[in-house]
Amino acid sequence: MIKSLKNQLVLALGLLVSVIGVVQGVSSYQLSKTGMNALLDMRLEQVAARLRDGLAESLPKNPARGTQDERDVVAVVWKPGQDVPFRTTEPSLHFPRDAQPGFSGAVVNGEQWRIFTRQEPTMTIQVAQRSSIRREITQEAATQTLWPIAVLLPLVWIAVALVVRRSLRQLNELGAEVQGIDMGHLQPLPTVGVPTEIAPFIHSINTMIERLATSIEKERKFIADAAHELRTPLTALQLQADNLAPHIYPGNQERFQELRQGIARSGKLIAQLLRLARADAPVNGAPLARVDLSDVVTGAVADVLPIALARGMDIGAEKMVTAHVRAVETDIGMAVKNLVSNAVRYTPDGGTIDLYMRRDGDMVWVDVIDDGPGIDETLLPRVFDRFFRANPDVEGSGLGLSIVKAIAARYGGDVTLKNRSDGKSGIVASIGFPVEEVTQNTPAAALNL
Ligand SMILES: Nc1ncnc2c1ncn2[C@@H]1O[C@H](COP(=O)(O)OP(=O)(O)OP(=O)(O)O)[C@@H](O)[C@H]1O
Ligand SMILES: [Mg+2]
Repeated sequence: MIKSLKNQLVLALGLLVSVIGVVQGVSSYQLSKTGMNALLDMRLEQVAARLRDGLAESLPKNPARGTQDERDVVAVVWKPGQDVPFRTTEPSLHFPRDAQPGFSGAVVNGEQWRIFTRQEPTMTIQVAQRSSIRREITQEAATQTLWPIAVLLPLVWIAVALVVRRSLRQLNELGAEVQGIDMGHLQPLPTVGVPTEIAPFIHSINTMIERLATSIEKERKFIADAAHELRTPLTALQLQADNLAPHIYPGNQERFQELRQGIARSGKLIAQLLRLARADAPVNGAPLARVDLSDVVTGAVADVLPIALARGMDIGAEKMVTAHVRAVETDIGMAVKNLVSNAVRYTPDGGTIDLYMRRDGDMVWVDVIDDGPGIDETLLPRVFDRFFRANPDVEGSGLGLSIVKAIAARYGGDVTLKNRSDGKSGIVASIGFPVEEVTQNTPAAALNL
């Protein structure tokens, strides 16, 4: 069973054309053979007619042996009452004199002959031709008729394949478009210039995209509302805990601190959920600015610098590139800062963190490289999943990278996380955005902190 529609069509059409070609070939072969036989018979009749019209007398009595071609047709003339032929072009051959008038066949000297016999009152004329030669001539003529079909059939197969491929190209393009639907940017597929057969299909997909976008937006709004609603009681809880602090017995202090830490963790989780809901929201309507990415990078480094220094880390931004991104500045800042704070959080004390910027086509990338433990390769594909944490020993909500991914998608960018490939352990986290306009490199603008 062939699964490809294209192959099915090519095979079906190709076979159909081939069958037509074969039927046409066989019939023209047969017709040509019949026609050629009729022509050869006519030739025998014409020779007989000329012999009757006086040519017989002019034939030599003892003919010289001719070439094979000349002996292809043999003529014999009998006179009534004579036992030997009056004239013959091949005396060694003895045809049956009493053959029925018209065409007949006979084996003479071990060979099959086709004989035309003409009975006249004054003579009997026989004109004969070897059947083997007739076969050769008719077959050769008939074979000539097969050439055009033999040449055309492969060409027709190629033409069928090309036509089918061309017709299905739009289907392939549609497949690629459907496959390329960005879940972060659900946009309806274009319907302009689409063939009528495919249009209903695209309309269904677009309806589905619309429903999906609505339900994703509902989910996002629910998360945002829930997180927002939870913030108030949690703040109240925090205040009450603060008020209670002086009244806690020294023996209960440790458990009370755990309670406060729990409240603080919940607060962070709610704040991250709110950030994620905002990052997931469509960009429409948000006031976009021309953001200098190198400023964002230095800002992110400056933000984590106190913690990094306190932990004896070496953090620096190198090979800066002047590039601008059209975005909400806080979004880009949050995305880069999440990657930098992950590097700080998951790299042991005294580690090194380097930030690089690079241009790649119309994208500008920020690489954050640490020399921490890296991430198990089997867990790497899941790090962008919500609430996924590869290292549960270190505190975190598992939402940071989901937020980064949502922000990258929001502005047509991308984010990747890989283990280092230079033999050292650690992570290379890269985030890229489309550049707003052509910029130049500032190679000397290296910044070491
Ligand atoms: N630079 C890194 N080195 C090692 N592991 C990392 C690094 N960055 C991320 N990870 C792993 O990926 C997981 C997911 O990271 P993510 O930023 O989404 O969540 P988090 O840091 O746990 O929490 P949050 O950022 O929401 O406070 C982390 O829990 C950690 O295990
Ligand atoms: Mg994080």
